[in-house]
Amino acid sequence: MEKAIIEKINGLKKSRNAVILAHNYQIGEIQDLADFTGDSLGLSIKAAETDAEVIVFCGVHFMAETAAILSPEKTVLMPDKNAGCPMADMITAEQLVELKKGHPDALVVCYVNSSAEVKAESDYCCTSANAVGVVASLPKDKEIIFVPDQHLGRFAEEQTGRKLILWPGYCPSHIVITVDDINEARSKLPEPIVMTHPECSEPVKENSDEMLSTGQMLRFVKQSKGKGFVVATETGMIHALKKVKPDAEFTAASERAVCPNMKKVTVDKIIASLEDMQYEVKVPAQISRKAKKAIDRMVAILPTR
Ligand code: 13P
Ligand code: SF4
Repeated sequence: MEKAIIEKINGLKKSRNAVILAHNYQIGEIQDLADFTGDSLGLSIKAAETDAEVIVFCGVHFMAETAAILSPEKTVLMPDKNAGCPMADMITAEQLVELKKGHPDALVVCYVNSSAEVKAESDYCCTSANAVGVVASLPKDKEIIFVPDQHLGRFAEEQTGRKLILWPGYCPSHIVITVDDINEARSKLPEPIVMTHPECSEPVKENSDEMLSTGQMLRFVKQSKGKGFVVATETGMIHALKKVKPDAEFTAASERAVCPNMKKVTVDKIIASLEDMQYEVKVPAQISRKAKKAIDRMVAILPTR
């Protein structure tokens, strides 16, 4: 990136007392200019910790919303206001309330990929890094509703032995990955280790070596002696992984696994965001207070690896 652009962004950050957070699926140049990159859990923790007055969130809407709930005194900006998550939109608070009516004693765990209104109707929130830990921590005699990702839910079921009441949501960018894709990608590397995000389909996970959130993939690769990795998640992850282990080889399981919403943020939009303080993400106080209880429980349970 041009030095002048970097200087411009640094000047704006200083004058606004701003920090730039970016998810691991962002385009490479945004990952490189961010103050902190990470997975949903890591970014939530960072958003709550930072002393900055302004957070420029390079990710999708539910991530910025979570930051706004955790830090109501800060200004949270999204460089592109249309960067949403289709999976999060697969359940509404009204639908969750209806589901709860059929299971009045159940505890509700919602994946962080959900709206603030859905979180407000939930008891616990989780990310892909700690879904297993959150489900495992719940009393054995309680029914558990898990929304909206059926695939992360099945992964938590499999790992904990608990039966969950699942919502049929899914990530359109992850379910395109097939077992054929995994086998073909494996054949390109001499001793491949297949790392798969829990949002992938069950057959894909069964044909994988490790099931990991994006943050867990980075930690796994860092400590691994492996030299070749198949990456079954959104393709932006390859940029982040190469930075952790430049001498290893990484192959995307499928080039079709792209999240168009994660790719909406550009450097120009970040500059405009800081110049014009746009687009602010605000959550009504009543929703925020209720959602925060579920999010606080999520932030308290660290990933198992
Ligand atoms: P991570 O929490 O693993 O980064 O995943 C976020 C996400 O949206 C996956 O599609
Ligand atoms: Fe949502 Fe899937 Fe994009 Fe993640 S990759 S933000 S789950 S659409």
